[in-house]
Amino acid sequence: MIFLGIDLFTQIFTVVAMVFVLVYMDWKLFTIFLVATPLFALSFNYFGNKRKKYSQKVQESASEYTQFLNQVISGLETVKLFKKEFILNIFEKINQTFFKNQRKSALYDVFFLSSIEVASYFAASGIILYGGIRIINGELTTGALFSFLSALLILVNSLQILQRGLLQVKVITPIVERILFVLDLPQEEEKGENFQTLKEKVKYENVSLKIDSHYILKDVNVEIKKGLKVGIVGPTGSGKSSFVKLLYGIYRNYEGKILLDDKELKDYSIKSLREKIAVVSQDVFIFNDTVENNLRIVKPDATQEEIIKALNLAKADFVFKHKDGIKMMVGERGSSLSGGERQRIAIARIFLKNPEIVIVDEGTSALDIETEKYVMDSIYTYFSDKTVLIIAHRLKTLEKCDKILFFENGKLIKEGTFKDLNL
Ligand SMILES: Nc1ncnc2c1ncn2[C@@H]1O[C@H](COP(=O)(O)OP(=O)(O)OP(=O)(O)O)[C@@H](O)[C@H]1O
Ligand SMILES: [Mg+2]
Repeated sequence: MIFLGIDLFTQIFTVVAMVFVLVYMDWKLFTIFLVATPLFALSFNYFGNKRKKYSQKVQESASEYTQFLNQVISGLETVKLFKKEFILNIFEKINQTFFKNQRKSALYDVFFLSSIEVASYFAASGIILYGGIRIINGELTTGALFSFLSALLILVNSLQILQRGLLQVKVITPIVERILFVLDLPQEEEKGENFQTLKEKVKYENVSLKIDSHYILKDVNVEIKKGLKVGIVGPTGSGKSSFVKLLYGIYRNYEGKILLDDKELKDYSIKSLREKIAVVSQDVFIFNDTVENNLRIVKPDATQEEIIKALNLAKADFVFKHKDGIKMMVGERGSSLSGGERQRIAIARIFLKNPEIVIVDEGTSALDIETEKYVMDSIYTYFSDKTVLIIAHRLKTLEKCDKILFFENGKLIKEGTFKDLNL
């Protein structure tokens, strides 16, 4: 950047100096050069803007291209079930747009870069013509005309270098704008009180949640005492996940009150709340890196011992059998792992945190019964004094729960012990 700055400075200085020299040498000849300036300015502006527009389009289609490939690869197993022609058609369309934008972008690149040259040729032919006439008339020497043309060449050269610099700026601008767009996405509010510990209870008071004019939770009233292990059951789509998502601030626009001890959840900062809530959700997120780094995402300064302990508690022993141990790489979106292995990585993360509330939303569904029992026992023992909410379709998982909540159509229709509810 510094070199670029110095170069820019030198070129601007050269341009200014050469303009003075040329005016001093022969202002009449220089006037002819100036006549070509509007032509140059017009094409510069026109092609420059086109170039910027297509740079942006190339960026957009490139990102569409990679996104598509990413999705296809990450959902490979599912994609295989779709018709191949359908997928190929979409891909071809994206590919064609990408190619079209690239081609246009390259074309305007050439037009833009040659605009100074073309304008200069026009000016030079005018200067040679007018200079020639003056030489014949004895007003100018051949030497003077050539010196003028040489000086003009230096000016044009510097202008071209400046123009290339501007081209870079025009190409880079859309990229920078795209990055800024992502960075500028609305941030979740960080104000509010710092949530530290749950002393007594979590309480939902007449809580309803409406999304797109449709209630997905309706008048939920429930009290969960600190330290209880609570099972949540109900048919698919009955609102179980939405019920727990409210606790870690995924939805903020609920009606009614959610109290943590005696304070409304919305009064706490989301960041502090999430630090104290550990979640294994239905959608496991694993990124393309080592197992170790996939765990560090929740606690960057965790020691190796802590990581190994967490993996053991989650019965993720497949990691230790691998030659690289916790440095074992998992593929893009965890593709080299089985569903159950991915889940165990996600479960291990909760043991690394020091949460007040633990939420397991179908987090053990891909495990065999024996492994699930081991993992659930780890959770019950390790978090014995913490509040734990477990959503499960396999009811046996919830046998040890102190209390079960039964949801149907967004309503909490029954609550009681495992036995009470005859599960
Ligand atoms: N972000 C959302 N936008 C629109 N509708 C939603 C959204 N989230 C959930 N829903 C709807 O709300 C209802 C409850 O969803 P929720 O995920 O809470 O159900 P669930 O009981 O966890 O189901 P499952 O057992 O299948 O996980 C469903 O009908 C779902 O389609
Ligand atoms: Mg769910």
